[in-house]
Amino acid sequence: MKGPRTFRAPGRVNLIGEHTDYNLGFVLPIALHLSTYVETSPSPDGLLRISSEFRNITLSWAPEETATLEPRKQWTDYVAGVARELALLGVPLEALELKIRSDVPEGSGLSSSAALEVSSALAFLQGREFDRLELARLCQRAETGFVGLPSGIMDQYVSLFGQPRAAIRIDCRSLEHITVTLPDDVQIIAINSMVKHELGASAYRIRVQECAIASEAMGVASLRDATLAMILKTPMPGEVRKRARHVVTENLRVESFVEAAAAGDLARMGQLFVESHRSMQQDYAITADEVDFLVDEAITKEGCYGARMTGGGFGGCTVNLVAPAAVDAFEQAMRDAYKQRFNIDPNIFRCIPGPGAAEITK
Ligand code: GLA
Repeated sequence: MKGPRTFRAPGRVNLIGEHTDYNLGFVLPIALHLSTYVETSPSPDGLLRISSEFRNITLSWAPEETATLEPRKQWTDYVAGVARELALLGVPLEALELKIRSDVPEGSGLSSSAALEVSSALAFLQGREFDRLELARLCQRAETGFVGLPSGIMDQYVSLFGQPRAAIRIDCRSLEHITVTLPDDVQIIAINSMVKHELGASAYRIRVQECAIASEAMGVASLRDATLAMILKTPMPGEVRKRARHVVTENLRVESFVEAAAAGDLARMGQLFVESHRSMQQDYAITADEVDFLVDEAITKEGCYGARMTGGGFGGCTVNLVAPAAVDAFEQAMRDAYKQRFNIDPNIFRCIPGPGAAEITK
């Protein structure tokens, strides 16, 4: 009998390019050290079984029935959805026990779900060759088709293709990426607001629809092909126009940010962060009082170049660019301010870009 094997997949922080992925635009995430780990061992009773350190609910099924699994509206759907997609491709699944643990905080906008999907996918594959891009798409299908959220490809992609000490700029139309080295003299700090407003999933769906309406009005296949001039001259509802404006300007900001990073222009990088946040706040309407406060407060602090909400929205984390020498004071000041305003202790993470998913069996 073979010994246990462990597979790791990271969460992510998106630096810039929010809600652009399902519009086939650009995103610039980093993979994190915070990760989900799946330990596998042969199952004693011929069933596939999944359990999590933090959850009571477990799930087991006969491997040959994987293709007929149905969603249950619980955490196991992320794993079962991946298993089902693999089975539908004809990948035979072994009878395994999957034990899952994670240090990616849930509901924080750091993509605990993609980390779970990708680590499970590697666990089911047990080291078998599988094209990484196809695996990212498969995990995305598990989320859109089984879990039921019409999300883009960013989270699964960066969980698989993340790079140590660099961000990746993904072109969500060609599905190619380039490595973007970040200046050394800046620290990426994620601050978890510890709130996630219920609205999140339904609002996400509505935004996806609004973007489709805008594309249709302008006669383009996706907002990737839209310009500000087209948005101005095409008749469409006011809200829809604002959503389209966010997406088009956000794509431009990703490109400007990549240029600023190459030039080591931290002031410009920070300015683009704040512009991105304002666009999410005013045009895309996906922020929340707590994250708006964290951004407004952060940008008054010594050594902070810029701040913005990261991830799907309605709470979760902000991401901040901070001069290394100012980090300790920045973190303390942010803790104090947030506690005083909302009586909540935020979790703060110093983010170091890490590698993409892999087996880490010792
Ligand atoms: C969620 C989705 C991603 C992306 C972001 C917003 O994390 O899973 O695909 O759309 O929101 O940028």
